[in-house]
Amino acid sequence: MPLNTEREQWGSKIGLILAVAGNAIGLGNFLRFPVQAAENGGGAFMIPYFIFFLILGIPLMWIEWGIGRHGGKFNHGSAPGMFDVLWKSKLAKYFGTLGLFMSMVILIYYTYIVSWTLGFSIFSITGMYFDETTAGAMRNFLYSYQGREVGQHFTSILPAYALMLVTFGLNFWVLYKGITKGIEKLAKIALPMLLIFAVILAVRIMFIGTPDPSVPENSVWNGFGFIWNPNISLLSNPTIWLAAAGQIFFTLSVGMGTIHAYASYVKPKDDIALAGLTTAATNGFAEVVLGAAIAIPVAVAFFGLNATQEFAQGGAFDLGFVSMPLIFQRIPLGQLFGFIWFLLLFFAGITSSVAMGQPVIAFMEEEFGFSRKKAVGVVAIIVLIAVQFVVFYQKYGFLNEMDYWAGTFGLVVFALIETVLFMWVFGADKAWKEMNEGGDIQIPMVFYYLMKFVTPVVLFVLMVWWFIESAIPKLMLEGVSEVNKPYYWGSRTLMIVIFIGLILLVRKAWKRKIKEDGLD
Ligand code: ALA
Repeated sequence: MPLNTEREQWGSKIGLILAVAGNAIGLGNFLRFPVQAAENGGGAFMIPYFIFFLILGIPLMWIEWGIGRHGGKFNHGSAPGMFDVLWKSKLAKYFGTLGLFMSMVILIYYTYIVSWTLGFSIFSITGMYFDETTAGAMRNFLYSYQGREVGQHFTSILPAYALMLVTFGLNFWVLYKGITKGIEKLAKIALPMLLIFAVILAVRIMFIGTPDPSVPENSVWNGFGFIWNPNISLLSNPTIWLAAAGQIFFTLSVGMGTIHAYASYVKPKDDIALAGLTTAATNGFAEVVLGAAIAIPVAVAFFGLNATQEFAQGGAFDLGFVSMPLIFQRIPLGQLFGFIWFLLLFFAGITSSVAMGQPVIAFMEEEFGFSRKKAVGVVAIIVLIAVQFVVFYQKYGFLNEMDYWAGTFGLVVFALIETVLFMWVFGADKAWKEMNEGGDIQIPMVFYYLMKFVTPVVLFVLMVWWFIESAIPKLMLEGVSEVNKPYYWGSRTLMIVIFIGLILLVRKAWKRKIKEDGLD
């Protein structure tokens, strides 16, 4: 197939960087990271976190940029086609199906979570939860909004449903507008705004200091100390290592198929070496500098270390949607700061969720010849149908199950496959040339060996370890109540249906191609 010369391209370099940084920076940085850090020993978590950032995060970022730009040269914006040009085997495209699957499944539940942040930004500025002054009452506010409990403010799931539709609509509208007029434009507005909001909040929080001088240990500084003073003895606990690896994947959006998609719209001779590093660094800054300076230090200042850890253990959203609103009720201009916090989350989330829609839309356009409108329409309908289950069955664990298989375990599987494919099957030397071509920097040679030997071995060990440590108990539904079990099975069935559907589509697309090209 000839190299493509007329593919849609990013409008500017800064637009591209903002879009890819927007892809990576998401709820993971501001919600998932503090929860993971607090649950896994604070400072002790940061050691494996930085190690995995170096040996997995940065290498995978470059690998995905490399695979993506290479695929783009052949008019492929999604993993099946990208893998097909890396490996001349009939199997390649089927491995690539995982890149459609991860992004699509994560999109299905992520959209719903992003919509909560929109809701809570409205509830903050209007002061709607400002009479819910205890953790129990605030939790009831959140749960009744989500339709999990009956509460005084929400008697049905209708408001949550309506805001899900708004978020969903905005997501697909941006995707419909395309790469430059949609995704890039959104990133140019949303990313600077969210960074400004995060800086404002972080600075405000630092000035909180010790809110109650009679309890001096409850201070912002002790919160920082918790994150930055490692308790080395905790490092023997494997859970901390797995949690850190999982966070690196999720936060950098590696192993999802979305970085590839964005990189495919880069010009063949444009820099990706510096762009890949910039993406990882910007995301790291938003996470360990800004993300670490907000939810945990302020919770420690107001509630103490133990209560902060309890919030973190109380489910992924307690720290963001229960603890933070309680704090906003106690500080001057709390309504405004609450609004800023949730809007920041909304901007972070929406710039990531559009990225999750892009691979499968590109797939429909490029491998089936659909117009953008038709591709967006078809994907939107499928996602909308699937979201219904998430909205109505979230309380039974439907969402958690999807998050585990697609948003946690699946990422390491896909990352291992792509690393082996690029560095071993396609060939490390060709891959290295692809990643460095046109680069504003040359990637240090040490990463050649890391990507070729260390990254795949670590990924393999992690996958096996993860499988034994958590995938087997999850598969056996350990700790899941009898009431919830059917919903976990329902969640699995939906994922299997999506996966088989994607496999069939990939097969159909290639049959079509063979017919058109007269060759495989
Ligand atoms: N990387 C995205 C996040 O952190 C998915 O939320």
